[in-house]
Amino acid sequence: MLLPSLLALGLLSTTARAVTVYGQIPFGQTSGLASATAGADGAVPTADSFTKLLAAYDETTLRPPQPPQEQSLTFTLNLAASNVSVPNLSIMQHGSFYGFSIEMSVITQLMGKNASHIQVPFLNLIAQIQQRAGGVHIRMGGNTQDFAYYVDKIDNGHATSKEKSDPKNPTLTPAVLYTDELFHLAANISSLVNVRWYLGIPFNDTNWRLTIAQKGQAILGDHLIGLQGGNEPDYYLGHGHRIEPYGPEEYANEFESLIKAVQNDANVPIKNMLIGPSLASGPWTPRQVWDTNYLDRFKDSLCAITMEHYPSNNCFVQFNVGSYVDPQETFPAFLNHNAGLNLVEPYRETSELARGLGKPFIMFETNSATCGGLPGISDSFGAGLWALDYGLTMAATNFSGALLHVGGQNVYYNPFTAPPTNQSAFNEWTVGAIYYSVIIVAEIFGKSNVSQIVDTSNNGIYTPSYAIYDNGALSKVALFNFIDDPSGAHDITGTITVNGGQVPPQVWVKYFLADSVSVKTNLTWAGQTFGNKFQVDGRPKGDLNITTIQCDQGANQCHVPVKAPSFALVFLSDPNAPAAAGIDAPALTFETTAFTKTVNTATVDPAVLATSNGHSGKERSKLGSTSSGSVNAAEGLRALIPGVSVLLSMLLGAGVVMAALTR
Ligand SMILES: *[C@@H]1O[C@H](CO)[C@@H](O)[C@H](O)[C@H]1NC(C)=O
Ligand SMILES: *[C@@H]1O[C@H](CO)[C@@H](O)[C@H](O)[C@H]1NC(C)=O
Ligand SMILES: *[C@@H]1O[C@H](CO)[C@@H](O)[C@H](O)[C@H]1NC(C)=O
Ligand SMILES: *[C@@H]1O[C@H](CO)[C@@H](O)[C@H](O)[C@H]1NC(C)=O
Ligand SMILES: *[C@@H]1O[C@H](CO)[C@@H](O)[C@H](O)[C@H]1NC(C)=O
Ligand SMILES: *[C@@H]1O[C@H](CO)[C@@H](O)[C@H](O)[C@H]1NC(C)=O
Ligand SMILES: *[C@@H]1O[C@H](CO)[C@@H](O)[C@H](O)[C@H]1NC(C)=O
Ligand SMILES: *[C@@H]1O[C@H](CO)[C@@H](O)[C@H](O)[C@H]1NC(C)=O
Ligand SMILES: *[C@@H]1O[C@H](CO)[C@@H](O)[C@H](O)[C@H]1NC(C)=O
Ligand SMILES: *[C@@H]1O[C@H](CO)[C@@H](O)[C@H](O)[C@H]1NC(C)=O
Repeated sequence: MLLPSLLALGLLSTTARAVTVYGQIPFGQTSGLASATAGADGAVPTADSFTKLLAAYDETTLRPPQPPQEQSLTFTLNLAASNVSVPNLSIMQHGSFYGFSIEMSVITQLMGKNASHIQVPFLNLIAQIQQRAGGVHIRMGGNTQDFAYYVDKIDNGHATSKEKSDPKNPTLTPAVLYTDELFHLAANISSLVNVRWYLGIPFNDTNWRLTIAQKGQAILGDHLIGLQGGNEPDYYLGHGHRIEPYGPEEYANEFESLIKAVQNDANVPIKNMLIGPSLASGPWTPRQVWDTNYLDRFKDSLCAITMEHYPSNNCFVQFNVGSYVDPQETFPAFLNHNAGLNLVEPYRETSELARGLGKPFIMFETNSATCGGLPGISDSFGAGLWALDYGLTMAATNFSGALLHVGGQNVYYNPFTAPPTNQSAFNEWTVGAIYYSVIIVAEIFGKSNVSQIVDTSNNGIYTPSYAIYDNGALSKVALFNFIDDPSGAHDITGTITVNGGQVPPQVWVKYFLADSVSVKTNLTWAGQTFGNKFQVDGRPKGDLNITTIQCDQGANQCHVPVKAPSFALVFLSDPNAPAAAGIDAPALTFETTAFTKTVNTATVDPAVLATSNGHSGKERSKLGSTSSGSVNAAEGLRALIPGVSVLLSMLLGAGVVMAALTR
């Protein structure tokens, strides 16, 4: 019963072997999925019919913009061999430049129900970034942080939950409740993959509630890297969270009051990890806040200067606010270098001020469009190119990092989305194109902490480029082609020449490819894909494909072709060499299933036996490795954390993985 219905869902390849499934199917007994999920007419619904209305699985495909009339197809980048006198070269950057901002209300959906039930695809997705960058920064917060509150216990043992809505005031958004498990969940994740966390102190009133700071510092220790004080305060008045007068001065005074409260609280031992002002490009400009002498007054308490911004919005459709933004008409605005340049323009002064103070400047929450993103844009390959160029532009403008916002299944812009709970038995995760952007940025800056970037664009807005220096030497070149033209007539060739040195005999190129800027499927980075919707377990599939290109050392030139549309990352030294700044260690991978902690017991969850077809975990681990050189963490983890065991999934050859049947 089970297998045919899964085949109908397109989830199993022909290499799938028969699988014995015991009693843990969530839809009932071994009667199986088909009958349990069939509609009234007896038809087996497809995955799509379950999710037709969910934004994260939306299939809107826009028309790609026409290629520009005038476009030079060749250009030369004359790049200095060393960083000594490169104008506009950035500060030192790091592979963890792009991180995530996870709304409190979706933490349990994405990260895990609690500390003993961590989402394995999430771990895998994070491990991919860690492999390249050494670590990942995640903010748990967003609009919900200001009203969230601590409770001793949530009935089902989950880390967070929604407040029961007040029948007397049904329009009131229910607050998020959290328990100690939230911090333990984060701490347990950090013990597996190197995640460092930002949290937000609620700012809904000035009877400061510092529980999140107390618990965060106590339980997360070094893994807590900042506490936000106020989220988009320029909207507090407009959203009815403050009464007039409320301007930058009032916000700054409240920030001062928060600092005093933190100073007086012995249970918040680290006083200088506050973050602000996190304006949302609402009614206040950054300058208006700086005019309150904010930076000078609070610099000793601040560990980072932050802003939040989305270039577009879908608020009319979602909430009937503002005016309608037409995705088809808006799409071209995302598909050129001006998109990124326009985004950083309002922050150039702030970036300089932060650098003057020696503080990181972080785009604390961003994505393609607020109010959930735009259908057809936010999850397209075009958005992947956009986020990549935007990230590199921020880095070149001395931002120190940026956090891409992640919501639930009801938004279009997610870097990754967990399947709806009632589908987790037969659907896997989905990644958006911008997840690839995060991976690529991680690879661009790597782990050295001595990477610098400069915008070298000299061939118009559709073909931006960047040079990357590592430890003082030219190490990589990034080339974009935003133009959509399957005919090949707008494929470009970037020529690299090294000033004050010589091009190497060959370069290594990794391409970010898809059929068009509009598509959401079959995206590849260096030949590997994370899979289309409902197919993602967080591990890349397919063989790594690095293209080598011979250079003309006599002419001091390397010619790198870049298809329309695509992105090319050119490595001047072998990215496979152990010392190279690329990927220098295999990623930990975690198999797709529930991750369960069984303290002081040697027992194996029955689900393992039920789904293992008699293989031992060890044999299974070998099957689990889908990317060359990857290490399966099922074994490694036990060494990392005594008493932790990983439930092993059904792995059906050829990299086809079923989501856990145990959830
Ligand atoms: C440096 O950046 C500024 C601001 O974007 C720009 O006006 C200037 O032309 C750049 N200088 C060089 C040499 O590229
Ligand atoms: C970034 O910082 C470097 C110093 O590390 C400086 O030379 C450069 O002008 C700054 N760029 C911008 C856009 O402020
Ligand atoms: C702030 O949020 C807390 C927790 O949700 C709530 O108890 C409190 O009444 C709120 N304060 C204001 C002024 O709304
Ligand atoms: C954690 O969540 C799982 C899944 O909902 C639940 O079965 C378990 O009891 C919870 N753990 C604790 C310690 O409450
Ligand atoms: C994991 O979570 C448990 C609570 O469920 C906690 O007791 C333990 O200390 C956590 N482990 C780590 C490494 O943070
Ligand atoms: C899953 O839940 C949603 C909303 O709660 C419902 O519309 C849908 O039919 C459910 N799907 C299945 C397969 O049960
Ligand atoms: C880079 O910085 C991180 C974070 O500060 C640190 O953990 C890491 O050891 C540094 N790496 C190198 C190569 O210095
Ligand atoms: C060039 O790189 C070296 C090594 O990372 C660094 O010490 C130096 O400050 C950099 N110089 C400039 C001008 O950025
Ligand atoms: C994705 O690629 C696979 C294998 O190359 C191909 O069979 C499939 O048709 C492609 N799917 C789409 C939607 O492009
Ligand atoms: C590797 O990538 C290059 C460039 O996209 C492509 O031409 C080549 O066919 C790919 N090789 C394989 C084996 O997929």
